[in-house]
Amino acid sequence: MADTSVMDKIVSLCKRRGFVFQSSEIYGGVGSVWDYGPLGVELKKNIKERWWKSLVYQRDDIEGLDAAILMHPKVWEASGHVAGFTDPMVDCKTCKGRFRADKLVDAKCLQKPSKQPGQHDACQLTEPRLFNLMFKTFMGPMEDSAAVVYLRPETAQGIYVNYQNVLTASRQRVPFGIAQIGKAFRNEITPGNFIFRTREFEQMEMQFFVKPGSDMEWFEQWREIRMQWHKDLGLNPAKLQWHQHGPTELAHYARAAYDIEYEFPFGWQEIEGIHNRGDFDLGRHQEYSGKKLEYYDQLNNERYLPYIVETSAGADRVTLTVLVDAYREEEVEGETRVVLGFHPAVAPIKAAVLPLMKKDGLGEAADAIYRDVKKAMPTFYDDSGAIGRRYRRMDEAGTPFCITVDHDTLTADSVTVRHRDSMQQDRIGTAQLVAWLRERTA
Ligand code: GAP
Repeated sequence: MADTSVMDKIVSLCKRRGFVFQSSEIYGGVGSVWDYGPLGVELKKNIKERWWKSLVYQRDDIEGLDAAILMHPKVWEASGHVAGFTDPMVDCKTCKGRFRADKLVDAKCLQKPSKQPGQHDACQLTEPRLFNLMFKTFMGPMEDSAAVVYLRPETAQGIYVNYQNVLTASRQRVPFGIAQIGKAFRNEITPGNFIFRTREFEQMEMQFFVKPGSDMEWFEQWREIRMQWHKDLGLNPAKLQWHQHGPTELAHYARAAYDIEYEFPFGWQEIEGIHNRGDFDLGRHQEYSGKKLEYYDQLNNERYLPYIVETSAGADRVTLTVLVDAYREEEVEGETRVVLGFHPAVAPIKAAVLPLMKKDGLGEAADAIYRDVKKAMPTFYDDSGAIGRRYRRMDEAGTPFCITVDHDTLTADSVTVRHRDSMQQDRIGTAQLVAWLRERTA
């Protein structure tokens, strides 16, 4: 059963604590576009950095790239997005609703009582029309068809058109990969579920170029690596599963495709796709650009167009997954404690420094410890209200460690460190504190 009340609580917590805000809220908001607040920007940045580190820094065979959002319009003809990146839509002339023709059974009409579109006597549905999901704009001073450019709907194409540049500049050899994190834009017809499906989002995509024939072996390797990455983020493995694309689901470019799905309160949904794209992409760019994109394998003296294995995850979608997976409510001493049990490495704030009281020199001692820890990691200082309340505020922000400064700090040069999940407390020497925290939050 879908539990949408949990989503409502998460959306409300995200606003209250500064994870995610509705875009342009003071003007009534703009549809399915979201802004990340002080805690949200840290959480998403930590997720992106973890992804980048695991691919670009920890491997020898992957290079990074940051291609521009605006590209030559022919890129989108070659990729198939101009002709094929479309949803069939029907409009209702009565209620002015617009619905995906292939998802009418899941849609709700705008009339009251709400029914499936087409089921009211008054419904007047048009024939399905194709609706392109790319945002169009104009480059230069003229707003005419010659100046049309698109906001990229995926980051992948920036990698394909740069494949030879990166190969030559980095002196890599096939098999090798290119990783990129960046914004993508889609004029989604059915956005929703908070930051799950939005019109502006970030992708973390890696394209791995391989010799034809070795593609399925690499595809299986990448499936394993990517699933493990999500588990290492601390996601509950019981809430992760594979979905294999059947023959009717496969995208035009794919030889094989699997989605990693997570069980959200609104059901099992894709968070990352792993695709064996064959030579579709380089083949098309070779054809449309007229430039040879073959790889020359010096060792074996052979030429071929590499096949591509793609791993494509949404940074916002993984952020939502981490938030949903981390959210829990517990009864503690007759009160409900809300906890975001993030993996410490992605937690936006790693530690909070809380003096038991401000007087007797505790405030000054806490301030000195705070300055010290803050140099090493994102740290928060809070000296207002009862200590229990301060702990709760930090639990709700997902802060793994609270450092309490008390009278013993002054005499024994040590602090109490309270663990977010177990609520257990350890006594740690002030001199060892930063190293102790570093070890547990990396
Ligand atoms: N280059 C392949 C590609 O873009 P996709 O399945 O359309 O494939 C890959 O997108 C990932 O991007 C998805 O698994 C999802 O995490 C994310 N994504 C796609 N559309 C999105 C949207 N409208 N809002 C948020 N994330 C989205």
